[in-house]
Amino acid sequence: MTVKQRQIVPSGSFVVSGKHPLILDAYLGSCVGVALWDSEAGTGGIHHLLLPEPVDGGTPWQPEKYARTGLPLFIQALCDLGAQKNRLKATMAGGGLIGPASQMDLDMDIGGRTTEMACHLLEKAGIQVLKKEIGGYFTCRMSLDLSCGDTTITPVIFPDVSQNSLVPACPTPEQITETIQSIKPIPQIALKLLRMIHNDMNSLGDVAKEVRQDQVISAKVLKLCNSAMFSRKMNTDSIDRALILLGEKRFLLLVLSAAVDSGIFGYSTGYSLCRGGLYNHSLGMALACERLAKMRSNRISPAVAYTAGLLHDIGKVVLDQYVARGIPFFYRRILEDGEDLIAIEKECFDTTHAETGRTLAELWELPDILKEPIACHHEPESAQAHPELTHLVFLADLIQSRFTLGQDLEGMVTCRVAESLEVLGFSLKQLPALIDAASVIV
Ligand SMILES: [Fe+2]
Ligand SMILES: [Fe+2]
Repeated sequence: MTVKQRQIVPSGSFVVSGKHPLILDAYLGSCVGVALWDSEAGTGGIHHLLLPEPVDGGTPWQPEKYARTGLPLFIQALCDLGAQKNRLKATMAGGGLIGPASQMDLDMDIGGRTTEMACHLLEKAGIQVLKKEIGGYFTCRMSLDLSCGDTTITPVIFPDVSQNSLVPACPTPEQITETIQSIKPIPQIALKLLRMIHNDMNSLGDVAKEVRQDQVISAKVLKLCNSAMFSRKMNTDSIDRALILLGEKRFLLLVLSAAVDSGIFGYSTGYSLCRGGLYNHSLGMALACERLAKMRSNRISPAVAYTAGLLHDIGKVVLDQYVARGIPFFYRRILEDGEDLIAIEKECFDTTHAETGRTLAELWELPDILKEPIACHHEPESAQAHPELTHLVFLADLIQSRFTLGQDLEGMVTCRVAESLEVLGFSLKQLPALIDAASVIV
C-alpha cells in the first residue's frame, strides 16, 4: 500500500486542487476550517480561516484570512478548476476554546463568529454543509483526501509540556490512585471550617484571625462578600466588617467557599466549559442546595446542604486531566448526543468522579455526612445513611445542569426526579418553585 503524501494548509490561506493522490491537512484551534468538494468535477480544497471579517470593514492586505473576504475567493478558485457551486459539499471544523478559556474568550467567541460568517456565506452560495464539528475545548486536524474527496476530523492531543509528561488517554486504576494521592490536600482552614459547620460552632474569632493572615483567602472572601450572590452592594472592605454584616453562619460558609476555591479547584478543562467552571458550578450548587434545604423547613440543615453542594463534585478534580486529554469530544457526547456522563466515565476510566470523590473524602477525613452525597449524587437511590441529603444534591444538580448550562458538564438524567421528590417530601406541583430556587447562576 502506498502512503499518500500530506500537505498542510497554513492558517489564513486556502489550497485548491483537482483529483490527486494527496491529503490536505489543516490544524485548527480557534481557527475554522472549511473543506469543499465537488465529486463530479473531482475538485476540492481546504480553507483555513482565522477571523470572521476585517476589523475596519475595508479590503485587507491578506483577504484569505477572513471569512467574509476570503471564502468567496476560495469558492471562485474552485469554480475556476471546474467545480460548480451547486455541486459543492462542505465540511466544517475548529472554532474551539483553546487553553484555559476565560469569560472574555467566551464573550469574544472568535471561533463562533467566524463559523457564523462562513455558514452565512456558504448558504448564500447555495452550498450544503454535510458535517460540522465546531466548538469544544480541543485542537483538531481536518483532512481532505484529494483522491476521493473524503474528509476526516481528528482530535489532536498535545503532550503537557509544562509538566513535561504525557497524560495517558486511558489511565490504569494504579495511575488514578496515584493521581488521587498527588492531589493537593484540602486546606487546613477548610477542614477546620467544615468541622465547625458540622459540629459546634466555636472560636469564630480564631477563624477571622486566620483569614486576616491569609491574603489570598482574605481577598476571595471580600470578593465573594461584595458579589451579588451573597449581598447587595455591601461594599465590605474588611474581614471584621464582613463578619458583622454577614452574621457568623454566613461568614463561615463564605470563608469555606473561598478556602475551597484556593485549595482544590484549579483550571479544569475537561469537565468545564470555561475557566473556573468547576468552581462556579460548585458554588452555584452550594447555594442551590442551601435554598432547597430551607424549603424543607430545616429537615436538612441548610449549612450542611451548602457544604454538600460545594464539595459534591470533588472527584472531578482527579479525572479532569484525563477527560481533557483522553476524551476531547466529551462535551459533545453529553450535550449533543445526550450520553450519560457516568457511563462515559465508566467506559473510559473504569471508575467515576463520584467514586474518586468518595476516595478523596475518605483520604481528607471529611465529615461522614458529606461522603454519601459525594459518592452517590448521580445514583441517589444507593444512599443508605443520608438519603435525603443525597437526593437533595441530586435534585439541585439536575436543575443546575438543565437551567444553568454553560459552566460545567454533568448530563443528569430526569428519570429519578419522582423518587427524589418523594424522598424529600416535595410534591410535583412544587417543581417550578424548586427550579426557581435552585437555578442559581454564579
Ligand atoms: Fe457530579
Ligand atoms: Fe455537579
